[in-house]
Amino acid sequence: MRVFAYIRGMKRAILIHPDPRLKKVATAIVDVSDELRVLADDMLETMYDAPGIGLAAPQIGVLERLVVLDCTDPEKERAPLVMFNPEVILSSDDENIHDEGCLSIPDQFAEVTRPAEVKVGWIDTDGNPQEQEFDGLWATCIQHEIDHLNGKLFIDYLKPLKRQMITRKMQKLKRELAREGA
Ligand code: NI
Repeated sequence: MRVFAYIRGMKRAILIHPDPRLKKVATAIVDVSDELRVLADDMLETMYDAPGIGLAAPQIGVLERLVVLDCTDPEKERAPLVMFNPEVILSSDDENIHDEGCLSIPDQFAEVTRPAEVKVGWIDTDGNPQEQEFDGLWATCIQHEIDHLNGKLFIDYLKPLKRQMITRKMQKLKRELAREGA
């Protein structure tokens, strides 16, 4: 079985589905502390190393409302976004179908339909409120990451049979990793 480099030796270990911590609702952040800023930096490093375009705190076992993302072309300059308490304020009626994946569900992809454009509010690393509209891959990614804060995975949008198939593959992967002492 192929072993994913990012499962070992990351700044912060990424939890693999199924894991009860990935099903929990994360708690709101009251104060953007230095500790949380360090956590956000660690999450960005972990995300870029994987490589991935988004990571939510519950994916590293921290049940707080924090996501990091960067959906720019990997060839171009990095444009990281750190969002504390992100919230979708408005969603378009227009929908977008995107082939989604997740660092907690390695090597599995499936089409998910979501609003094509969203207006999102969040608290930035300086503790200031921000608001911005997103479309394209950014809109999909932000919605996917906010779902993580509510204990929801992209496979929850799939038909039960497909979801069970993916879950069984992940259980097998986790057994393999446990045997190898990862
Ligand atoms: Ni994900």
